[in-house]
Amino acid sequence: METIKMAIAKGRLAKYSIELLEGIGIDCQVLKEDNRKLVFSLSSHNIEVILLKAADVPTYVEHGAVDMGIVGKDVLMEQEKQLYEVVDLKFGNCKFSVAGKPSSANGKKHLRVATKYPNVTKKYFTEKGQSVEIIRQEGSVELAPLMGLSDVIVDIVETGKTLKENGLVVLEDIASISARLVLNKVSFKTKKKEISPIIDLITEKVN
Ligand code: PRP
Repeated sequence: METIKMAIAKGRLAKYSIELLEGIGIDCQVLKEDNRKLVFSLSSHNIEVILLKAADVPTYVEHGAVDMGIVGKDVLMEQEKQLYEVVDLKFGNCKFSVAGKPSSANGKKHLRVATKYPNVTKKYFTEKGQSVEIIRQEGSVELAPLMGLSDVIVDIVETGKTLKENGLVVLEDIASISARLVLNKVSFKTKKKEISPIIDLITEKVN
């Protein structure tokens, strides 16, 4: 039986991803230990798990460095990697939104948009026919309109708390987001025997 390699996005999805694996009977105790390890062997099921920054998960999956991954649809939309998106895991629910100070976008011919998601942003405004300058950020995007760096932001909104506490509002919704199970295209064929039962169990669990 071949080892299945799986990448899990660190951060907001990790806890739910581990709960999901435990929910289908995989012992994940080693993943909960507080240490700096990066590779974890779930020997009972012949699964090797790595924890990655969310933005790196699609890269590992596309190149076949891992067979499968759990990552947010926001990252998948931004990167458009060559992989199979097989299950909507229905956790990590949030949305992509345009946000800013109330009426900050009104009547502007050209908008300055701060975001960690330049591709999603470009696509959205191009389809709307709105001219934009995209200002790429690495985090705390909400600061940009507050400091006059941008007119609006494109970001993920989960509870809306960050926007609210900074006097910003959602101006437009772009798309709904949730965590997805993704597969390497070659592994799907070559390790089908090992991978299919896991996909089936996960699908059953989340539906
Ligand atoms: C995300 C996002 C918002 C916030 C939204 O940031 O960029 O800032 O969460 O969540 P809320 O609607 O529940 O307030 P994250 O926590 O990932 O950190 P970052 O700003 O460093 O990217």
